[in-house]
Amino acid sequence: MRRLEGRVAIVTGAASGIGKETAKRLAEEGAAVLITDIQVEAGEATVKEIEEAGGRAAFIRHDVTSEADWEAAMAKASEDLGGVDILVNNAGMGDIKPIEETTLAEWDRTVAIDQTGVFLGMKIAAPYLKRSEHASVINISSIFGTSGGFGVSPAYHAAKGAVRTLTKNVALHWATEGVRVNSIHPGFIATPILEESRDTPIWDGMVQLTPMARLGRPEDIAAGVAYLASDDAAFVTGLELYIDGGYMAR
Ligand code: NAI
Repeated sequence: MRRLEGRVAIVTGAASGIGKETAKRLAEEGAAVLITDIQVEAGEATVKEIEEAGGRAAFIRHDVTSEADWEAAMAKASEDLGGVDILVNNAGMGDIKPIEETTLAEWDRTVAIDQTGVFLGMKIAAPYLKRSEHASVINISSIFGTSGGFGVSPAYHAAKGAVRTLTKNVALHWATEGVRVNSIHPGFIATPILEESRDTPIWDGMVQLTPMARLGRPEDIAAGVAYLASDDAAFVTGLELYIDGGYMAR
């Protein structure tokens, strides 16, 4: 089904993992997609894959912590692709240490990317989104945005929790302005980062903690993004959608 024909999407962090599969899925559904990332070669490779599959895409190097980069990304989507209807704030990274060992610089870096990047995206996209007839923002949080996880990665948990409530806050502010805002909370998803732990006790631990007894695929998250971006979700705003194999149901 091509639910996004004629629309323009921006997907941050789309050089890899969930962002890459999301960009491909949105393009399959008919959207022109602006791929943004700090990884240039891999970002351009995503564009190539989409074009080879018959879709429309462009790339811009974009650090989500930079206000100027956000302005440039919006201008490119607007001028080269024709507008901004869908914003997927997906770019992210994590800290791994416990709180005592986390430096202020590490905390600030994680919060800058995972939390402030989402704030900047919605703030700078606002005038573009309000001009769209089908505006939808999807913020990628995490199961660790509402739970304490393994008791490590304090900045990641704090930032992903902030994304959860920021999403609801902006959803209410824009509720009558035609811009829907929702968050997706992935469980353990087999992306390049986690691939490194395949066949190790960490991988087995993640499988055991997941009621469906497997890790998710990036495509599982992409399908949720496509739903929230489409008119099938026309009455859905402020939602937190868990795609986690049952992790949060325990
Ligand atoms: P990934 O590492 O494969 O992809 C993240 C992308 O973000 C990379 O391409 C990276 O270059 C980009 N990025 C990092 N810093 C950036 C910056 N400052 N500006 C622009 N781009 C930047 O990771 P994955 O797994 O695909 O993660 C995507 C999102 O999903 C992240 O927000 C992550 O926190 C979230 N997530 C992932 C889970 C998983 O199990 N893989 C679970 C829950 C949430």
